[in-house]
Amino acid sequence: MHIAVLMGGWSAERSVSLQSGNGVADALESLGYRVTRIDMDRDVAAHLAKAQPDLVFNALHGSPGEDGTVQGMLDLMGLRYTHSGLSTSVIAIDKVLTKQALVPHGVPMPGGRIVRSADLFERDPLPRPYVLKPVNEGSSVGVAIVTDEGNYGNPIPQGSAGPWAEFDELLAEPYIRGRELTTAVLGNRALGVTELKPRNGWYDFDAKYTDGLTEHVCPAQIPDEIADACKSLALEAHRLLGCKGASRSDFRWDDERGVDGLFLLEVNTQPGMTPLSLVPEQARHLGMSYPELVQAIVDEAIT
Ligand code: DAL
Ligand code: MG
Repeated sequence: MHIAVLMGGWSAERSVSLQSGNGVADALESLGYRVTRIDMDRDVAAHLAKAQPDLVFNALHGSPGEDGTVQGMLDLMGLRYTHSGLSTSVIAIDKVLTKQALVPHGVPMPGGRIVRSADLFERDPLPRPYVLKPVNEGSSVGVAIVTDEGNYGNPIPQGSAGPWAEFDELLAEPYIRGRELTTAVLGNRALGVTELKPRNGWYDFDAKYTDGLTEHVCPAQIPDEIADACKSLALEAHRLLGCKGASRSDFRWDDERGVDGLFLLEVNTQPGMTPLSLVPEQARHLGMSYPELVQAIVDEAIT
């Protein structure tokens, strides 16, 4: 079987995707597959038409590999691919659409509102502390936690560094104090719960991808009730959105509020497969090696 691994591209997560894609491609080669590595450029359709793979392993992160665009192209080309399809990807990449899809079904998520970045220089959109994030980026790209002194109504200073300089609109959500948890789903199984404990600050891009900056506690040392809730919410979100292959649901848990303090932040339909990534780590904890995880994702895509 010939598998093309799509990686790279031009999103803000290009470097992460290259790590994911090369890790996956190495694993596929170790499993005996014929592999073509494709660093996605504007001619990706031509590269795929030339390669004629039996399956595309999508190791892209961010847009356009995670937002439905690439999925639609692969659908049109009649190529089978791993992970979620077009409509799931369109919804899950968008943090507002994800809330609209899941909250009516009882999935607890933080409230949020879209703000024009320019308005942040006039007044705070929510009581501090709050989080600002682009609607459709990954890996905490462009995320800011507004916690500095100042009360509700005090604007962000014009000219200060932050995502307001780069994005015209941002999603503002109340900041949930407490702990950072994540749960991977593979097929119809929740793999576990990991707690991320950044050594400094919060779980931002550097803390995610620099070895040693974040302690991963797997399984998380949390009450069974919270672990069970993470797993059932991650499974429910995966099912409601129609995810395929692997997904990863990220949570904040306010540990002073018991299960009522647990909030799903987002569902990642193209979760990272780098050496520091969380889906491979949870799989490993269950005795599933990285190549076995890659094989399981392939198996789900071709059956
Ligand atoms: N967006 C990154 C790759 C993740 O969710 O793992
Ligand atoms: Mg994400």
